[in-house]
Amino acid sequence: MADIKVPYLDLKAQYRSIKPEIDAAIARVLESCQFVLGSEVAAFERDFAAHCGASECIALNSGTSALHLALLAAGVGPGDEVITVPFTFVASVAAVLYAGARPVLVDIDPRSFNMDPAAIEAAITPRTKAILPVHLYGQTADMDPILEVARRHGLVVIEDAAQAHAAKYKGRTAGSIGDMACFSFYPGKNLGAYGEGGAVTTNNAEYARTIRMLRDWGQDRKYHHVLRGFNYRMEGFQGAVLGVKLRHLNRWTEARRAVVERYNDLLSRSDVQTPVEMPYARHVYHVYTLRSPDRDALQAALASEGIQTGIHYPVPVHLQPAYADLGYARGAFPQSEKAAAEVLSLPLFPEITDTQIEAVCRVVQAGVHAG
Ligand SMILES: Cc1ncc(COP(=O)(O)O)c(C=O)c1O
Repeated sequence: MADIKVPYLDLKAQYRSIKPEIDAAIARVLESCQFVLGSEVAAFERDFAAHCGASECIALNSGTSALHLALLAAGVGPGDEVITVPFTFVASVAAVLYAGARPVLVDIDPRSFNMDPAAIEAAITPRTKAILPVHLYGQTADMDPILEVARRHGLVVIEDAAQAHAAKYKGRTAGSIGDMACFSFYPGKNLGAYGEGGAVTTNNAEYARTIRMLRDWGQDRKYHHVLRGFNYRMEGFQGAVLGVKLRHLNRWTEARRAVVERYNDLLSRSDVQTPVEMPYARHVYHVYTLRSPDRDALQAALASEGIQTGIHYPVPVHLQPAYADLGYARGAFPQSEKAAAEVLSLPLFPEITDTQIEAVCRVVQAGVHAG
């Protein structure tokens, strides 16, 4: 394996660019000793809700917890079904099982990699309670037809916006399109904490109240437990870091989009398929994903030049051994399975240099020719 010339992600470069602000925010938490929830977390909740165009934000300890609590607040439980996709990070499906319900999967639209709205209707049964579209890679799912079918059947729509901070759908911001939205602030995300973090945003005060209680042991006041809750609270340090980073998010999103323009331009004459920004979407490119029938060889060629890449995701959830009992065989979701075999994510972070982008593109342009 060659020395790393282009990392997939460079969190150190980002920290260096905002070090004084971050260090001051960390110092404030140390001084206040508000290590769990507290004023920094509350301030971040206000700012992030405003950023999403939502009236409520509940800060949590991970995106997985956000999905779990959003499902519980929607009343999802044993005997219920929730419709989502197999081409996602495993948490989208696992959270449905956390809630005791059954995940019902539908295939993706191969252009957007997101839930195919035309597939939903056939998956609805009398037990269906919610639809959980994932805004994969930073591009929103096609939400209007999803909301329309949900309204017709009285279903709750929960956005998995874990990869889609600041993404837009027809001018609306991810986090305020469905009934609730779930974010992850895992460090590598477009808005990443310095540890685990997540949040639910919503315009529904009742959902927000329930989630606020559930994250803190179901208390409505200290030691009065009206719900069976969890310890899913956000740490003070994470709230402080996220508050600082949120102020830079729009600038970082623009930088990502500029990198993508450069990639698209340099790769327009190569034999890989570059990502499609759907007409309804403003993509925030958490991940820049190519499609190539020679994906594994291309990844090896890049690695031999010291270029790190990722595969998001190599095995769709229905084919993971741990989820075999969902009952879906190979061939059940052809578009998801084809995508899993072909996708390759190139290095992408706001601080990536032009020289690094060109080095990546030289290898991709050279292609992988037999012999
Ligand atoms: C689509 C999606 N959903 C859910 C999650 C879970 O978030 P977390 O890792 O913060 O629990 C992730 C995180 O990687 C994700 O990418």
